[in-house]
Amino acid sequence: MGKNIAVITGASSGMGMEFAFQIDCLYTKIDEIWLIARRKDKLTELAKMLDTKTKIIPTDLSNELDLQALSLFLQEENPKIRILVNAAGLGFMGEFRRVPMKEQLSMIDVNVRALTELTWLCLPYMPKNARIIQLASSAAFLPQKNFAVYAATKSYVLSFSRALSEELRKNSIYVTAVCPGPVDTAFFPLAGKYGSALAFKELIMVPADKVVKKALYDSHKKKQMSVYFLPIKAFQIAAKLLPHRFIFFIMRFLK
Ligand SMILES: NC(=O)c1ccc[n+]([C@@H]2O[C@H](COP(=O)([O-])OP(=O)(O)OC[C@H]3O[C@@H](n4cnc5c(N)ncnc54)[C@H](OP(=O)(O)O)[C@@H]3O)[C@@H](O)[C@H]2O)c1
Repeated sequence: MGKNIAVITGASSGMGMEFAFQIDCLYTKIDEIWLIARRKDKLTELAKMLDTKTKIIPTDLSNELDLQALSLFLQEENPKIRILVNAAGLGFMGEFRRVPMKEQLSMIDVNVRALTELTWLCLPYMPKNARIIQLASSAAFLPQKNFAVYAATKSYVLSFSRALSEELRKNSIYVTAVCPGPVDTAFFPLAGKYGSALAFKELIMVPADKVVKKALYDSHKKKQMSVYFLPIKAFQIAAKLLPHRFIFFIMRFLK
């Protein structure tokens, strides 16, 4: 097997980019970081800021041909993937019937389909003690009106990641689902194209570096889930303990 690689999707922005910075600083045994997203210019800019060698892999994860090209690239390189971070993702808020179907399906394509396929493609190249970090969301804890498809995709990511974590334990490969609340990235400006977020989301928005630092720590500790920030942990517990009908009722009064 070849070099020790970290593969990061969504590396052109937000948390994916922050994972690249922190892995670059913390993981001295990584020989190369593979940066995946559509915007090549952003990946090139990022690569210049990193000390670790990089490979820039411009990829549209919603395009099956691009995923096939990625599969062939893996076969050619035969890498030793030490860390896979699936951070690419997107969401569109708004009433289900008002958000165009193309946008609804793009969430499923990237958040669910591509994450699943990339995980499957990378697994044969992952040695013992490798890590998979999947970006889910606190939206995975509870169905969300006006964010219905997005929350459903993130429930999938959480469920899939926890099951995979159990499966891969015998192979000493550890999976962590990261479940942040609102994070200060380019996510919300795009998400607000057809509808706005609950105003209180602004009040509990946290910086990306804090979420990523905790995610890498929890992944190191082989934790199945990483939840940063007390209000989000409280929300997780409430969603587990309280009847969802009751939470939906309370949320009707939050603007
Ligand atoms: N920000 C939040 O409040 C928040 C909270 C919980 C969970 N999350 C999740 O965290 C992850 C990272 O989000 P973020 O906040 O860092 O958002 P972001 O700044 O908007 O970054 C999203 C990344 O996904 C990539 N991406 C989107 N569509 C793609 C496609 N078709 N092919 C390839 N790459 C694609 C984008 O790259 P290109 O545009 O260059 O392709 C970009 O690098 C997402 O899965 C998101 O759902 C975010």
